Amino acid sequence: MEMVGNSAANKPTEFEQYSSPSSKSFVGYIFAGVTGGAAVALTAVCAPFILPALRRVCLPYVPATTTQVNNVFQALKGRTGPLVDLGSGDGRIVLFAARKGFKAKGVELNPWLVLYSRLHAYREYKKGRILEQCYPRFHRCDLWKFHLHPYANIVIFGVQEMMADLEEKLKEELAEGAVVAACRFPLPNWIPTSTIGSGIDTVWLYKKNALL
Ligand SMILES: C[S@@+](CC[C@H](N)C(=O)[O-])C[C@H]1O[C@@H](n2cnc3c(N)ncnc32)[C@H](O)[C@@H]1O
Repeated sequence: MEMVGNSAANKPTEFEQYSSPSSKSFVGYIFAGVTGGAAVALTAVCAPFILPALRRVCLPYVPATTTQVNNVFQALKGRTGPLVDLGSGDGRIVLFAARKGFKAKGVELNPWLVLYSRLHAYREYKKGRILEQCYPRFHRCDLWKFHLHPYANIVIFGVQEMMADLEEKLKEELAEGAVVAACRFPLPNWIPTSTIGSGIDTVWLYKKNALL
């Protein structure tokens, strides 16, 4: 005869307990939460690097080579006054400028690169490589909306498609005597006062007074 009401027989096994629908959905929620969170974090980090490709002019993050940085400062030898790097990337040109005694600023669209540049600047300052009066600044800002008149030295490592528009902006906003150091791609119509280096590391220097 079958025993009815035997509590030991009706009790779920340990396997049944942990594979019950409610525990399965709990594990599912955790899994979905972790993968969803990771996907959101990855998108937040990657999007600022990918979005420039969707703009009218795509200006990707390509850091200047050491030779290029040296060429920029050879071109700017003897110059003083405020300097701005348009699209400052990881801040290498701005930091180099600050170490050389320029009051330097970086303008950059990518918030992660701005954050990285600020942290790097703080580290350099703490190590005593940058003087307090030359502490560099980094702005998260669109270079096309950044007014250039206060700057005596403009550095740009752009792309060919943007140089004609940039030339117009420079013509309208640059103060007398200001100079532009263009890396890798020259301005299409202005005549450089000097050209430093060769190949992909070429830097052209232009002076406002020496415009066409
Ligand atoms: C070719 S990299 C140059 C980086 C840096 N100047 C260097 O020489 O190492 C161009 C930089 O411009 C930034 N950028 C692109 N479009 C921009 C915009 N509209 N305003 C400001 N920065 C921009 C990119 O995120 C990238 O870091």
